[in-house]
Amino acid sequence: MNILGINAYHANASAALLCDGKLVAAVEEERLNRVKYAAGFPVKAIRYCLKAAGITLADVHHIAIPRDPWARIGTKLLYALRMPQFALERRRAWASFADVPTTLAQSLDTDPQRVRARFHRVEHHRAHLASAFFVSPFDRAALLSADGLGDFASTMWGTGEGGRMCIQGSIAFPHSLGMFYTALTQYLGFWKLGDEYKVMGLAAYGEPAYLDEFRRIVVNHDSGFRLGLEYFSHHQNGPEMSWREADKTPVLGRLFSDYLEKRLGPARAPEAPLEQRHKNIAASLQARLEEVLIHKIGAVYGQTGQKALCLAGGVAFNCVANAKIFDGVPFERIFVQPAAGDAGLSLGAAFYVWHQVLGNPRSFEMRHASWGPAYDAPEIRSAMQERRLSEGGFVISELPDEEIIRATARHIADGDIVGWFSGRAEWGPRALGNRSILADPRRAEMKERLNRRIKHRESFRPFAPSILSESAGDFFEKSHPSPFMTFAYPLRPNKRDALPAATHVDATCRLQTVDREANPRFWRLISEFGKLTGTPAVVNTSFNDNEPIVCAPDEAIDCFLRTHMDVLAIGNYLICKPRSAAPAGSAETVSGRV
Ligand SMILES: [Fe+2]
Repeated sequence: MNILGINAYHANASAALLCDGKLVAAVEEERLNRVKYAAGFPVKAIRYCLKAAGITLADVHHIAIPRDPWARIGTKLLYALRMPQFALERRRAWASFADVPTTLAQSLDTDPQRVRARFHRVEHHRAHLASAFFVSPFDRAALLSADGLGDFASTMWGTGEGGRMCIQGSIAFPHSLGMFYTALTQYLGFWKLGDEYKVMGLAAYGEPAYLDEFRRIVVNHDSGFRLGLEYFSHHQNGPEMSWREADKTPVLGRLFSDYLEKRLGPARAPEAPLEQRHKNIAASLQARLEEVLIHKIGAVYGQTGQKALCLAGGVAFNCVANAKIFDGVPFERIFVQPAAGDAGLSLGAAFYVWHQVLGNPRSFEMRHASWGPAYDAPEIRSAMQERRLSEGGFVISELPDEEIIRATARHIADGDIVGWFSGRAEWGPRALGNRSILADPRRAEMKERLNRRIKHRESFRPFAPSILSESAGDFFEKSHPSPFMTFAYPLRPNKRDALPAATHVDATCRLQTVDREANPRFWRLISEFGKLTGTPAVVNTSFNDNEPIVCAPDEAIDCFLRTHMDVLAIGNYLICKPRSAAPAGSAETVSGRV
């Protein structure tokens, strides 16, 4: 039985396909159409998933859409009366959803008569919860989803057991931890979707000097929280989410009120310098998020009595808060799925249908994130030939697996910056060893070099290490698995200086623990680097330069040529730039044939 999950007309459009209850493929549309946070109809992602399974649309039995227009219909109607513009936008969105079957058939050139799949609508946060629990290692767990807004709710919790979830409560619009964090992110001058990461990084440079004020901005309430609405504007006009027509990139309107500026001072303009005041506000924001989240999770622990927790929704990407849950609530294990944000809704909706609607037992666990497209040697060769690499002075070798791993480890140990393209593209926003840029974490200067030569990120944002699972406990104060880079742990005092290029200013690292069975090729690479240097960890940052993470070989080669990367290991090819290769920029400077 084939179930297709589709997250459409929403930020992070994506598709996921299950065959007999096992995930076969999952990918975000942005990887394929190259538009960051792409939000339209994910036709390329759907095409890829069907191709990966070797089926057509006519072979799909169920289609799961993670949105339910009827959820909280009373609240929605109430707000529709107060916010007519917002209501109009919602109506337009619902109309798009009503047309999904037709759009699907048309986009895939399929006769609508041949589409026999049954359509299911799954409420946003139920899809989030399902995306974590049904692929987790746990048979029983407490569940919590928290984000900005979805189907008029921001938070939902409950329990999962086997193939069933039981919802125990939710928090409705306008009270939302996601909106809270995004509003303050905007206030601090970061307006792009996904900029919350930057503020989380900035927080470590400040002191929570404004915490008292922040305790009025978000108030603990019974077993949940409420926003001090005078600090916000989204409850008056609705969160203005619009899609830029040209490329369907989502744009979010201003969420904070004039009152917030009156209390905290003027908002920072995007290009203005970052002052200590801004850093202290970021620290206060992060501290308050942690307080409220841990209060809520403590209540969920008390209510459910479970030992394991599954977290989902955009707030679950706050790796700093995630790690602190262990200190504040006695959960023994926490699982965060790699696409915890809205991309994961397609996966969650599909699993919801398989288990909760169709009543099937559990038979799948997500142990790695390798669910996207892979490319074979002829495809890689053809991309290399198109870019005419061999005439630019590049040294190109085709090597067996063990040799390319050894050679790549040696390059990293020698201080080179290496593009590592291996196997299937990762599901979720993190590079986890398949589309990664790797470097030596022992070299303090590497952070500045990576930024100057390739990433061009704000200097306050840390890079992350990937470390062998079995060595994590030697370096970090916690050793709970973090296979998808969703936890930030403090380094042990005796290892404070061990990974300077991947350590944040507060001596924590947002680490990936690499498991031998889950990602054997990446594990072997880090292991080889460990043999050479005594440090079983590498700096791992996403393979891109202000674009979605590369997916196909030509995108990886273009990024390699455009930036100052030294080496590209792509499949079984090792490509080294000539040492003097200045901005190895264009096809003209490297013309030739492989
Ligand atoms: Fe969401």
